Amino acid sequence: MENQPAQLGVRIESLRIEALSAIAEASDSGGLKESRVRFLGKTGSVSLLSEGMRTLSKEERPVMGKLLNDLREAVTAALDAKESTLTAEADAAALATIDTSLPGTGAEAGSLHPLSLLVDRAVQIFRRLGFAIADGPDIETEWHCFDALNTPADHPARNEQDTFYLPDGRLLRTHTSSIQVRTMVANPPPIRIIAPGSAYRRDEVDATHLAQFTQMEGLYVAPGVSLADLKGTIEFFFLELFGPGTEIRFRPHFFPFTEPSYEIDLRTEALDGKWMELAGCGMVDPAVFEEVNAKRGDSVYDPEKVSGFAFGFGLDRLAMNLTGVSDIRMLTENDLRFLSRFTA
Ligand code: PHE
Repeated sequence: MENQPAQLGVRIESLRIEALSAIAEASDSGGLKESRVRFLGKTGSVSLLSEGMRTLSKEERPVMGKLLNDLREAVTAALDAKESTLTAEADAAALATIDTSLPGTGAEAGSLHPLSLLVDRAVQIFRRLGFAIADGPDIETEWHCFDALNTPADHPARNEQDTFYLPDGRLLRTHTSSIQVRTMVANPPPIRIIAPGSAYRRDEVDATHLAQFTQMEGLYVAPGVSLADLKGTIEFFFLELFGPGTEIRFRPHFFPFTEPSYEIDLRTEALDGKWMELAGCGMVDPAVFEEVNAKRGDSVYDPEKVSGFAFGFGLDRLAMNLTGVSDIRMLTENDLRFLSRFTA
């Protein structure tokens, strides 16, 4: 075939028409890809025409070269434009199958455990009285749990029947009172703290006992703290928690680390009007201050200069009363039917 300039010009023009109409007719990306190879590929029509340039004269070459370039650019632009049209159409078609009126897959909101809710409420009430939160380890030394709290080695709580001992002699704290000791050893007075946390005893688990339970400890030490402060604090707290009409009673009791000591009972018509035992409390025994001073190596807890009160109550029993749960084990079984009843 001759490659005269005029003829080449005609062939370029007819290839342009052929290519543009093939591209316009392509109905999917597969067809469009075929057109790209057919016209612009290494052995495609435009490339083959370019080879004809070799037979042209020096003067004709730039002219035809420009025409061929224009053709390549026009075909490329048409292919690109068609490709974005097809992509947009495919996207629209995919979106059209989505029924936006269908309900979505909602994210289920969890809720806090009833004990966490109670701890939060208790903390909020004590915050208003200026109490800060203190903490301590669940695995304790005998000294922090017993000795420093004036609880001698022959005390029944130190029996292996009652307390979980670790092989190294440490133990799972039997009460949060160990946090009293840790706080005083680490900080000089005045101290005003509450400490919610787990406590552990070798109790047979039944409807009213758990081997791991939750307590909240309180400690206030400063010059001139009195039994009246203790009573006022405790009454304020439980009235806030249970509401007006709640009666509080202090019964003399014994704890090694407080003197005098009391048990606190509460009665409210809302809860069958019977007295229930809630907490232990008392004035910090001077022997505890002396132990703390010895450990600190100073005498900032001089029993002649500072006094304090302490209290501790079990939160599980409280949570049961406030929520009407009859079996304490429900608090640890993680049954969602039970847990989802409580929302903040
Ligand atoms: N730790 C005592 C208990 O677990 C409660 C208590 C705390 C009593 C603080 C007096 C003062 O029974």
